[in-house]
Amino acid sequence: MTRAALDTPADRELFAVERSGAEYLNFTVPDSALRRQVAARLADPKLGVAPTMSGQTVIVDGSAPNIAKQLHAGHLRGLLLADALSRILRALGATVVLRNQLGDWGRPAAQVIRLIMETPFDTPRAGPNQLYQQASVRYRDDPAFAARVTDSLLRMQDEQEPEHTIWKTLVAESEREFGPVYRDLGLLATLQDFWPESLYRDMLPDVVAELVAAGIAVIQRSGAVVVVSAANPTRRLNVRSAEGAYRYAASDLAAIRNRLLESRPDRVLYVADNRQIDYFRQIFDTAERAGWLDQCTRAEHVAFGTVCGPDQTALASHRDGAILATDVLRQYSVPAVKFAYLSHERRHVIRMPLSRWTGRSGDDADYVLDALRRAERGAAALLPFESANHPMQFGTIGPASAAERQLVLRLDAFGAVVTHVGESLAPEHICKYLRSLAKDFSICVRSGFASGSDSAYAAALCLLTARTLRTGLDLIGV
Ligand code: ARG
Repeated sequence: MTRAALDTPADRELFAVERSGAEYLNFTVPDSALRRQVAARLADPKLGVAPTMSGQTVIVDGSAPNIAKQLHAGHLRGLLLADALSRILRALGATVVLRNQLGDWGRPAAQVIRLIMETPFDTPRAGPNQLYQQASVRYRDDPAFAARVTDSLLRMQDEQEPEHTIWKTLVAESEREFGPVYRDLGLLATLQDFWPESLYRDMLPDVVAELVAAGIAVIQRSGAVVVVSAANPTRRLNVRSAEGAYRYAASDLAAIRNRLLESRPDRVLYVADNRQIDYFRQIFDTAERAGWLDQCTRAEHVAFGTVCGPDQTALASHRDGAILATDVLRQYSVPAVKFAYLSHERRHVIRMPLSRWTGRSGDDADYVLDALRRAERGAAALLPFESANHPMQFGTIGPASAAERQLVLRLDAFGAVVTHVGESLAPEHICKYLRSLAKDFSICVRSGFASGSDSAYAAALCLLTARTLRTGLDLIGV
């Protein structure tokens, strides 16, 4: 319970404090404080969410698929997590800057480009995932093809033809592919927030030179450039290949350098699968050694569990049976998809199909949305006009029931839950909270709100529940 509601001397006296075992003290909140809190919360448009992050700038590097493939059910997790976290940090007062590092500058793109180059002109083009699958199988099984891919990778990064033109087509096709999914999901991020790897291309030679000059990166005999971890020499970050192609880490190093030196954010969050934990540790470590990253900024990898198919292996576009994002969205409503993904503990694996966990107790999104509608209807029926902007005067109300007490304490906890998620970066706690609130509300409705209560008080509880559910759902983008 917030401090203010309890801070009158009368209430402090009314407080019953009881010792429970050796470690706990049980506080009993007096009914009067409970009800005063309902009125106070109704007058607070923030619903108790304190601006704990105001003044902070946070860059969210999220939802970063590779070009030349379709989004699958695994990508959805990163997209939705980055989206929910951005909304939550904004609600806490942070300025959130979205940066989606589209993977458009690496070997996977070059594989597809090469395959297109080697396919007779009049052969009908396969769909993006088929093409991607064929290219990666060929790359794996045919060393001569693999060598030509490397050649095309260098030419692509050097913007030579025909690679450059094909690359541009692939980027445009990918945007056409991703755009509708982003739109259907109602994500904050749009194609304008794509800051693809290729955007950093002009910085790459300087970044490598700077790291080499500082002795942080070394040029190996093969010509490859690697950063050897200071803590563990067996750990290395590949920056440039022996042939001179920039690797995945090169763009991330250029991006972090650019972000930190240009905009001095307070935090940079990278929302990516937990298979990249080691990778990001090395990126941050390198940025620190290079003096780009210091105490002023916190760089964090917001790692999430891999999304696996029914066979327990990670979904991948280059394998048969990848479950496409569009298939998931055809089968389930957007609220169901968002709630189902985000309810999962962030670090835990998710196993498809989605029905394994949307089906559990009915659909959680529906359950919460249904409680929201009932709360809205209840508020409208009991209180035909919105008097809630001035603290309400309730008539005489009998002693608080267990159900009322439970509901009011839950409503009161909203701000603390949001603050906690701002720290833990684990939106599953919002989902859990919303489910509990929906349940507490239902129980309270069944038990008739409060004994002998007037309709203004019942209306207040409905209105506050409706607002809290609505705001909570907004935080997860539902
Ligand atoms: N495109 C990468 C992949 O498909 C994920 C990108 C994560 N973000 C980053 N800045 N590296 O695995």
